[in-house]
Amino acid sequence: MSHEVVEKNVGLLALLVVLVITIGGLAEIVPLFFLKSTTEPVAGLSPYTALQLEGRDIYIREGCYVCHSQMIRPFRAETERYGHYSVAGEFVYDHPFQWGSKRTGPDLARVGGRYSDDWHRVHLLNPRDVVPESNMPGFPWLETTVLDGELSAKKLETMRTLGVPYTDADIAGAKAAVAGNTEMDALIAYLQNLGTAIKTRR
Ligand code: HEC
Repeated sequence: MSHEVVEKNVGLLALLVVLVITIGGLAEIVPLFFLKSTTEPVAGLSPYTALQLEGRDIYIREGCYVCHSQMIRPFRAETERYGHYSVAGEFVYDHPFQWGSKRTGPDLARVGGRYSDDWHRVHLLNPRDVVPESNMPGFPWLETTVLDGELSAKKLETMRTLGVPYTDADIAGAKAAVAGNTEMDALIAYLQNLGTAIKTRR
């Protein structure tokens, strides 16, 4: 029987197993390359400004993603609380994306516009001043560290090589747009932009 031949020949068995897995894997992955909804930005999505991009780097440096996800799942309990569920086209300019996997604090995918800049400032200095029961740490040094913008143009250029449509003018103006702002300003600019391309119901 031909099946017996396969079962008694480890090399052939391994080869056929790899072949089957390869076909299965390709059938799952290849269609994604042609699915526009995962590779094209949603209407209204614009690249981060130079200041927002600096804020995003601070978000990563401070490990905000360790306690906060940026990914609203399509379940009623989530959309009632956070707003419209996240869609792939919102993240095409994120390199790398900040979906996260741990929610010690709330999801931040649509936190943009939910609070005032002043609220964020007080909250980031000492969360307990606005949310008494909070166990989020304070980040007071953000308020006293001023950005010089030396690397901002390079950061935009790098993003452009990854497909983010920055213009030459964006890159030329990056340093001036960032220099003089505090890390706090940059982080708040980033937070206030999160999830705003899709209008929420809140
Ligand atoms: C140790 C875990 C932890 C870390 C690290 C952390 N947070 Fe939080 N965060 C929380 C918790 C818990 C809450 C809910 C209580 C509150 O509002 O303070 C929260 C709330 C928030 C909120 C309000 C969200 C809402 O919808 O009400 C924002 C904005 C926020 N965090 C931003 C940040 C940023 C930016 C950083 C990084 C600089 C950060 N967090 C780091 C735990 C954390």
